[in-house]
Amino acid sequence: MDFLTLADVEVEGKGVFVRCDFNVPLSEDGQVADETRIRATLPTLKRLQEGGVRALLASHLGRPKGKPNPSLSLRPVAKRLGEILGKEVPFVADCVGPEVKSAAAALQEGGFLLLENLRFHPGEEKNDREFARALAGPCELYVNDAFASSHRAHASVAAIAEFLQPAVAGLLLEKEIQTLSQVMDSPGRPMVAICGGAKVSDKLNLIKKLLDQVDKVIVGGAMAFTFLRAQGLEVEASRVEEELTEEASQILEKAKEAGVAFLLPVDLVVADQCSPEAQTRIVSAEEIPPGWMGLDIGPRTRSLFGKALKGAQTIVWNGPMGVFEMKPFSRGTFEILEQVTASGARTVVGGGDTDVAVHQAGAAQKISFISTGGGAFLEFLEGRELPGVTALTRRPSVHG
Ligand code: 3PG
Repeated sequence: MDFLTLADVEVEGKGVFVRCDFNVPLSEDGQVADETRIRATLPTLKRLQEGGVRALLASHLGRPKGKPNPSLSLRPVAKRLGEILGKEVPFVADCVGPEVKSAAAALQEGGFLLLENLRFHPGEEKNDREFARALAGPCELYVNDAFASSHRAHASVAAIAEFLQPAVAGLLLEKEIQTLSQVMDSPGRPMVAICGGAKVSDKLNLIKKLLDQVDKVIVGGAMAFTFLRAQGLEVEASRVEEELTEEASQILEKAKEAGVAFLLPVDLVVADQCSPEAQTRIVSAEEIPPGWMGLDIGPRTRSLFGKALKGAQTIVWNGPMGVFEMKPFSRGTFEILEQVTASGARTVVGGGDTDVAVHQAGAAQKISFISTGGGAFLEFLEGRELPGVTALTRRPSVHG
């Protein structure tokens, strides 16, 4: 990797600004409902603690659109992080200004404080230089450990590096980039990509890119219907992005030319409405009853996809096979997950919903790598530059 990481710099006793991604779900009573992303930053936090660093931790939570919004406060994250670390993490009700300055000055060596939601200020999403300068204010070093936010050119991710040098990767960011680069650059073959989820528009670029890389593509979830429609099937009330059917046809054509097997559902669990109480049937993909919609893959598809995964050396998975949150439509996702974990392949999973399904099934230990990124995971696999990575200080060239 050509950027500096924590291992390259002296952190001892320094004041450090650490961009984390604590964009975690909260329960109705305002508690942290899933702490995966908090735990993912622990290696970096422990390293900083051992180095006697005084660290200002910063993150966004949700999309408050530049205004304070008490329901998106990071206070519950400070509480949970303190419980996990076994040491209270003080919380500051802003991320810039005099309160932050004095809380930072009061920090002991090895102490952390968590700042309020960065997106309460409009400057964050505008990548505003003055806001970035204010964030950097009390610190001497910048650490980005927020892989999941690194596709955003926001002040705490991008502009801040102009004011805090060196700007280095934390251990989580480093591990994400290292693992995903290795999987994409030198995968064990055969390599299979599984793409699912609701919106084909989010994934078309990824699928195009994957066609140059993988041996097979499996497509499930609602996004499969745009491809089935492109093949001329009548998919009734199933979700289709009509304006993308032409592009979907081109992708199918390109897959054929490239000799990449492109697998779509051959049968479906269909329903008269998207609800756990819906009437359901299993039908072939050509025979969706008028007005009904496909909400999961059917048994023949499960076995077709399962066979395609056998013998794979690398599997990359983003997006569920159906509406797995509702019992009648969950079987496709969970059975494919079983096939993935039983395959013996190196398995990489990314994207919000997919990792929720993996955790729900208690299968996290059986997956080689679960990315903390959603959009960032997709953009990285598409081969796009991530602003949060571009902003890091480059490693000096060995050739001078
Ligand atoms: C995510 O959950 O993918 C990241 O935290 C980024 O959030 P955003 O899509 O609101 O920028």
